[in-house]
Amino acid sequence: SQSIDALFKAKGKEFYGTATDQGRLQAGRNAAIIEANFGQVTPENSMKWESINPRQGQYNWGQADYLVNWATQRNKTIRGHTFVWHSQLAGWVNQINNRDQLTRVIQEHIRTVGGRYKGKIYHWDVINEMFNEDGSLRNSVFSRVLGESFVKIAFDAARETDPSAKLYINDYNLDQPNYAKVTRGMVANVNKWLSQGIPIDGIGTQGHLQSGQGNGLAQTIKVLAATNVKEVAVTELDIQNNNSNDYVAVTRGCLEEPKCVAITVWGVRDQDSWRPQGNPLLFDSNYNAKANYNAIVQLLSQR
Ligand code: G3I
Repeated sequence: SQSIDALFKAKGKEFYGTATDQGRLQAGRNAAIIEANFGQVTPENSMKWESINPRQGQYNWGQADYLVNWATQRNKTIRGHTFVWHSQLAGWVNQINNRDQLTRVIQEHIRTVGGRYKGKIYHWDVINEMFNEDGSLRNSVFSRVLGESFVKIAFDAARETDPSAKLYINDYNLDQPNYAKVTRGMVANVNKWLSQGIPIDGIGTQGHLQSGQGNGLAQTIKVLAATNVKEVAVTELDIQNNNSNDYVAVTRGCLEEPKCVAITVWGVRDQDSWRPQGNPLLFDSNYNAKANYNAIVQLLSQR
């Protein structure tokens, strides 16, 4: 089947990518599918804090290095995922209760991981999932100890470490334009933080959808793009149940918004998805492109 990445690029967009990691790349036909059909990879788990920095001063580079080398050798763009996230966080970080210490730990983590891959990561998800559904700050070790100042600490450290990387703030349930997490959470805060000089380049909307939510996400892309941020991306798209129309709606939504630069789907085959039900991805268990995939090809083939 035709590459949705090549077709998306022909429409002026930057990439259509997917999530993977060493285990997947070495299994079945995943690597071949990604080489042929996608232009970008996100490490699904290997760069998360608990994987890459499980104990203070200890870094496990093996799986992340594999992903970065694999992608670099094949000219695939990489989204780094993720520096500061309350989930899949190393236990030792959760126990810190001192401001200066947590500040130094965040800075050292970002300088070490970001520094190792400097110049090779196109987007970094600097902060992931920091808002509650009502738009307030999620309770985490970061917000408890540092208030919202952890946002500036993390983005400043990321900018200083890898100045060519585009720095993203990423979240889920940003799928309905009038939802509080969108308006009071992401939109209001990103505009405020940009006015304070915090170097946020992009907003990522993950896009873990149910059938019927594609149009809502397309509308939300416009709302996020109407902030003062430079760009927006759909970073973890998967859609449960009968969803070709939804994949088309999301892809069209990105096409129609000049600030929307890219789409990443969260895996290759349905059976390898983190969501066991609802066949949410673009390839079946035999690595055949599904109707969802072909519908995107058809949309992107129109002149
Ligand atoms: O690697 C260990 C393995 O050693 C162990 O034996 C096994 C037993 O449970 O677990 C393995 O770790 C699992 C890991 O995936 C790697 O496969 C974890 O249990 C499992 O919880 C983890 O799930 C990941 C999940 O994030 C964790 O929050 C999913 O693969 C991953 O797709 C998912 O991705 C997140 C994004 O990062 C952020 N947005 C939401 C998205 C979906 O939850």
